[in-house]
Amino acid sequence: MSDEPILTFEASNKLGKVASVDTSRVLIAVENAALLPRASVGSLVAIQGSTAQEFLIGMTERVTRQLQEQTSQPDPMAPTMLAVEVIPDDALRVILLGTYRTIEGTVHNRFKRGADSFPQIDRDCFLIEGPNLQRFMGLMGKKLDEKQRLELGHFVIDRSAVAIANGDRFFQRHAAILGSTGSGKSCAVSLILERAHARKHANIVVFDMHGEYASLANPSAQEDGKVPMPIAAAFKIAGPGDLVKAPENALFLPYWLLNREEMLSMILDRSDQNAPNQASRFTLHVRELKEKTLIAEKKQDVKATFTVDSPIPYKLLDLLVKLNHDDTTKGIGANNKEVKGEWEGRLTRFLSRLEAKAEDRRYGFMFKPPGSALKYDWLAQQIAKLLAAGEGKHGIKVVDFSEVPSDVLPVVTGVFARLLYDVQFWMQPEKRTPFVFVCDEAHLYLPVREDADAIEKQALYSFERIAKEGRKYGVSLLVVSQRPSDVSRTILSQCNNFLILRLTNDQDQNVVRRLMPDSLAGVLDGLPLLDTGEALLLGDAILLPARIKLKFPAIEPLSQTRNFWQEWGEKAPDSAAIATAVETLRQQSRTSEKIP
Ligand SMILES: Nc1ncnc2c1ncn2[C@@H]1O[C@H](COP(=O)(O)OP(=O)(O)OP(=O)(O)O)[C@@H](O)[C@H]1O
Ligand SMILES: [Mg+2]
Repeated sequence: MSDEPILTFEASNKLGKVASVDTSRVLIAVENAALLPRASVGSLVAIQGSTAQEFLIGMTERVTRQLQEQTSQPDPMAPTMLAVEVIPDDALRVILLGTYRTIEGTVHNRFKRGADSFPQIDRDCFLIEGPNLQRFMGLMGKKLDEKQRLELGHFVIDRSAVAIANGDRFFQRHAAILGSTGSGKSCAVSLILERAHARKHANIVVFDMHGEYASLANPSAQEDGKVPMPIAAAFKIAGPGDLVKAPENALFLPYWLLNREEMLSMILDRSDQNAPNQASRFTLHVRELKEKTLIAEKKQDVKATFTVDSPIPYKLLDLLVKLNHDDTTKGIGANNKEVKGEWEGRLTRFLSRLEAKAEDRRYGFMFKPPGSALKYDWLAQQIAKLLAAGEGKHGIKVVDFSEVPSDVLPVVTGVFARLLYDVQFWMQPEKRTPFVFVCDEAHLYLPVREDADAIEKQALYSFERIAKEGRKYGVSLLVVSQRPSDVSRTILSQCNNFLILRLTNDQDQNVVRRLMPDSLAGVLDGLPLLDTGEALLLGDAILLPARIKLKFPAIEPLSQTRNFWQEWGEKAPDSAAIATAVETLRQQSRTSEKIP
């Protein structure tokens, strides 16, 4: 970069002078009224700092013109007429964001976040526009090392400048993409995945709730007829149609992976007076069965320290037999007389709830796993599939959860994330490689704690732990939601970077406002007005909070907004397709394979 200062101002750029200052805001009295119309909310302003080399950089939050009526001198020709003149009183309110120095030590053109000093009254202020703006926005990205650049689109205030975030920082301490429905979140996710794909060993697991990102693994032809290269591998949580002959990419989450609390959150009815007995018998038997497996597998080391929560396979049938035995065994009283057994009849409701779940095909991915999923080595192979891409395999893994019943969705996502996180946690530190979970539609399984039921609390527990501790182990979350007010505050407040798209709902805006420092409140006022694909990027991945237009991804997720009016003019509903859909609904599976 040349040593020439990138900000050079002429007298014609001078807006006015500092009129008042408080801790983060500056009021500028505008003297050059012709410049005012060029300043809008979001425009950048430079305020002369304490030395000639220093400028404080601020973002306009409010532009005001008050018209004052003033009586001027009486006209000498008509002394009885008082002329009334309208004089504009122009002002800009600016939030201070950073400090720019033309030279600092030996470094030329240095910009840093935060104001090093407070501006002084009467200091000159300039509007950053034209070539100054282009060079300044360019400086934002130029400082980044090639290896860190995450290119997202361009700045709205200067369309010629590319908006580049620091890819390391973006993921280091969790990020969130928030915006109303149809604002462009899924497209933003696709774009970020596309960028990550360019890294040789990107490692991302996407929780895809609607099967939207399947297109990243199987792209269809674009308008020009070309088919783009796939950038991800597709997996799905096995649906009812995948149980007979599981496709290669179907994932099972057998019951034995669940820890005690996760399992009980699904099966136990805490209001049942026998709930404590049921929980204790369940725990005892599961522990015994796991121990039995360890003995058969000759895993002495594991046997010495395992707990009931350790993921060790056992047969569900064996557990049912043991619980049934408890539930039906009579006790023996005095004189060998048969009396009511200690557990007799106490486990009946528990057993029937467990059996009902085990029989339901929708829960097949958990209770009807293939025989191979009971093998001791199966877990390591599965985790390797998801965390280690291997030669010629994709590092970005899209996991389709669309066939998982909504009542257990939180447990399933929670167990999934917890297992991968635990493996990372127990890995030798020098062998760890970082990975990210993209939690699309996070409000569905990461609710606000006060509203969470027993099942949702399990998911919250797993994800909140990752939000709080993940950074140390190289595990990060990218939370995506259209209802930030319904997403766990603990998780959102741990996010350091935000890509906020159009957000129209008041409640959601308030949540976002509370996550940001007060000084940015003015910038957030524009959220309902953002265009589709436009976003505010805030956080430590970018030097200045900025409004950006996201680039459209090369492969669009399968979530296009439909053109109702046009389509009504072109295409009639298909009754045969409706009949097929009714059958699919009955089968609870989109897999074409017939269920016997
Ligand atoms: N950067 C962009 N530029 C232009 N159009 C875009 C951009 N991003 C998204 N769109 C359009 O906006 C529509 C909705 O996008 P998208 O599916 O990403 O929304 P969403 O926020 O994920 O919605 P939902 O919350 O309902 O999932 C799509 O039709 C897409 O073509
Ligand atoms: Mg979406």
